[in-house]
Amino acid sequence: MPPSWERHRYLISDKSLHYRLMKFIDIIKSGLFSLLPLCTFGSNAADYVPTPEVLESRRQFADDRFGIFLHWGIYSMFGQGEWYLNYGPKAEEYMKAANGFYPADFNAAEWVAAIKDAGAKYICITTRHHDGFSMFDTAENDYNIVDGTPFKRDILKELSEECRKQGIALHLYYSHLDWVRDDYPQGRTGHDTGRDASKADWDSYYGFMNRQLTELLTNYGPIRAIWFDGWWDHDEDKTPFDWHLPEQYEMIHRLQPACMVANNHHQSPFEGEDIQIFERDLPGENTAGLSGQEVSRLPLETCNTMNGMWGYKIMDQNYKDARTLIRYLVKAAGMGANLLLNIGPQPSGALPATALSRLKDMGEWLRANGETIYATEAGPFPAQSWGTSTRKGNKLFLHVMTPETNAILIPEGVNIRKAKTFESGKPVKISRAGKNTVVHLDSIPDATDFIIECETY
Ligand code: GLC
Repeated sequence: MPPSWERHRYLISDKSLHYRLMKFIDIIKSGLFSLLPLCTFGSNAADYVPTPEVLESRRQFADDRFGIFLHWGIYSMFGQGEWYLNYGPKAEEYMKAANGFYPADFNAAEWVAAIKDAGAKYICITTRHHDGFSMFDTAENDYNIVDGTPFKRDILKELSEECRKQGIALHLYYSHLDWVRDDYPQGRTGHDTGRDASKADWDSYYGFMNRQLTELLTNYGPIRAIWFDGWWDHDEDKTPFDWHLPEQYEMIHRLQPACMVANNHHQSPFEGEDIQIFERDLPGENTAGLSGQEVSRLPLETCNTMNGMWGYKIMDQNYKDARTLIRYLVKAAGMGANLLLNIGPQPSGALPATALSRLKDMGEWLRANGETIYATEAGPFPAQSWGTSTRKGNKLFLHVMTPETNAILIPEGVNIRKAKTFESGKPVKISRAGKNTVVHLDSIPDATDFIIECETY
């Protein structure tokens, strides 16, 4: 893909007129006239054309590279992750936990400060997960943080105000599926929670969701993205189901023209979406079995956990170490993707101590090396055995993480004029080997990420 095209990848929607125009120009440029008949130039009224405001959000988002995901709800009280309700309790009994939810340690200013200090540029928080509990003040029911708990504080209000104050963008996770409401048409999960399936009423449930989304997009200031999850509950093959997404997406874009739409459906992006999400895998990889989809031209985001679970799980202290987390962030950046790294706050409202310590380590690393991560693009070649690369204009950053030798082989097609170490600026010797460039290091580095800054031509 030519660089000019790659650079604007996230600013356009796959099928827009703009896209076809750019594609046409690229084809002409690269002289591939024989492909011309394959292009379609017809206009389709249904095609999503992102607003200038959304294009700006996409641009900011793609520059951010690092965000923190927060899975927090009454499920945290059981200490067994956010899917606890799916594995046995009856909804009627589970919902009573709200009466005891009093997160005395919750302090939005401290959360945001710790996250900002880690070098993250945005937060995505669960406003309502599959257990249906709303972590915001809603007029739709009392099963929410303000009306249904002794805490009575609207944590989303406090968090949104703090994000604005401290200059962190806010994204809202919203579950499409619900394990406690009778009107949500039964999908693949939540069969044993005691809901009355005969009362399924899609129109009623759809209206409920859209009214809640309206509250979220009206009462909490600028929201940079709505992050949907749960579409997969209605398996397209087994239970065909129309989620009426185009209307819902249109409503979101109408309520806040700069708000992006993301959907963790594990498919290629649908019309109207602004971000492509990957769960527990980097784009193009599929180790967790959730990501067979093609990588699109939208801004990309990989979400993953610090330990093994999204919601707080008392038995899971198996946190990835700082080196692993930093390398994951670097690998994502090398693919032109953001990392949305999850923390499951404790029922008290405290962020787990190990999570805080990882945030600190990541912040320290990003303060020194952020220039090679933020506002960069994917490198010009895929990840190599030694590591990956990012670039900014004619600067190419080689991220050497797992080298086997001190001779770093750069794939052909990359022209490097000179190179130096990013940390100290010490010149690094380069040579040509056929069409490849070789970067010669003094020794085999053992750093989390040994960065070499190259000037390309
Ligand atoms: C899955 C899970 C959910 C979690 C999400 C985060 O879809 O159902 O619990 O919130 O992944 O990516």
